[in-house]
Amino acid sequence: MRIGVLTSGGDAPGMNAAVRSLVKAAVARGHAVIGIRRGYEGLLAGDAAEMGLAEVDGSSRHGGTRLGSARCREMLTPAGQDRALQRLSEMALDGLVVIGGNGSLTGAHVLAGRSRCRVVGVPASIDNDLGHTALAIGVDTAVNTIVDAADRISDTATAHRRVFVIEVMGRHCGFLAMRGGIAADADAVLVPERRWDRATTLARCEEVLRRSFSGGRGKERVLFVKAEGVDYPTRELVADLQRAADALGAGVDVRETVLGHLVRGGAPSALDRLVALRLGYAAAQAVMAGHTDVMVAWDAPGGVGEATEDPAVRRVPLADVLTETARMLDGTSAVARSRLGLLQMADGLLAL
Ligand code: F6P
Repeated sequence: MRIGVLTSGGDAPGMNAAVRSLVKAAVARGHAVIGIRRGYEGLLAGDAAEMGLAEVDGSSRHGGTRLGSARCREMLTPAGQDRALQRLSEMALDGLVVIGGNGSLTGAHVLAGRSRCRVVGVPASIDNDLGHTALAIGVDTAVNTIVDAADRISDTATAHRRVFVIEVMGRHCGFLAMRGGIAADADAVLVPERRWDRATTLARCEEVLRRSFSGGRGKERVLFVKAEGVDYPTRELVADLQRAADALGAGVDVRETVLGHLVRGGAPSALDRLVALRLGYAAAQAVMAGHTDVMVAWDAPGGVGEATEDPAVRRVPLADVLTETARMLDGTSAVARSRLGLLQMADGLLAL
């Protein structure tokens, strides 16, 4: 068999580990793996080369993606999709493994529906906004990076008795802010899933300031962790909080740090490497066994999909993954509701 592999969309720490185990599993059974560069852009351009074991040696520890990635607009168009299908047959691929997030898996589902090539998705996105998988590759590293950064900011915030707003990535999903914020002892976590308007967000944050700086509480630092998806520009929130702190007579400065792409880079954590290695292996197995239009999922909530030889990995139809991903986004998914419920439970305690 000839199995293509590409990494697409926002890179995620652990992508290289997934490619490595896929290559090893396929090559061990005598199959060829074709590495496609820069995601769907490389597929459309036919930019690909066979990968040997030497190329993936020791690659699990590297962040980013050695194959390169891209956000390919052309793949969203019918003409782009036709071209991708043509390239699959020109490259004589029997299988294609797509490692990426929502947009990448949407492309994979389109290709699977229109081609004889078996297409298997692997969830990889720091945002953890994909349906039917408890974890996507890159999430654990990103949470750890946020905690590390917030701890550093806490040191300097405490030294100066300051208030900080730390903005973290996650697109429309607040998972990274929730996990990172709670683990970093934040005083409040702001996520888009709450669907608060600006006035409500500000009122809740003011309440945190009041509790922190009045009544002899004597806090040395206050930390707000805010997801980038919250519709309240961080700079404006900081200015509004400074006014609120001044009105309280707290005598503190309010500062901001936007972590941005820092959260996406860096060496993958041990957990991300292990998850990626197992998902990459399961993807190779799925293609070799003839499955198509599926994603290999980690600890699929509710045990959806089909079992694999790995107890933590299930195969879930890509159509179901995409439907559930949309539900995570609009808040109707049980998983999204339970994540928000957990944060609400923590709410009363964070600023005490
Ligand atoms: O989806 C991963 C992600 O890092 C999001 O958290 C973020 O909103 C987006 O990608 C940034 O994308 P880009 O690097 O293309 O600006």
